[in-house]
Amino acid sequence: MQEGQEIPFHSHKIKLEDIINRGGGDLAIEFLEIDNNNKQLSKKITVLVDGEKIELDPHEPLILKKGQSVTVERNIFHRFYSVKGSGMVMAGEVSQVNDDNNDNYFLEQVGRFSQIQEDEPPLHPLWNEV
Ligand SMILES: [Fe+2]
Repeated sequence: MQEGQEIPFHSHKIKLEDIINRGGGDLAIEFLEIDNNNKQLSKKITVLVDGEKIELDPHEPLILKKGQSVTVERNIFHRFYSVKGSGMVMAGEVSQVNDDNNDNYFLEQVGRFSQIQEDEPPLHPLWNEV
């Protein structure tokens, strides 16, 4: 991840995942929970960092140094990004099978693919354009 890139807040109902800082700079991850009315909860969130329990406030960045990992429990919203000034980060994920179409719940609506304003026919169509 380059500085300024981020994975926006999302959660999974089925997939359990570990996010790993595989190298480079520092990786920040924020967490939050919402209730059934999409209202953000203010209670602390417990996560496992390399197997050790850590309590965080909602939106409090957890900073993972290279080699560290965090387990993201189901239904916990999470966003992650490289820490400004720390350089590029290689973020990895070890998880159950990813079902992009049915198990990604974004806090704010985002598109799966960016919109393209075509000004000529595609030379090499993407899988969803044929
Ligand atoms: Fe995720």
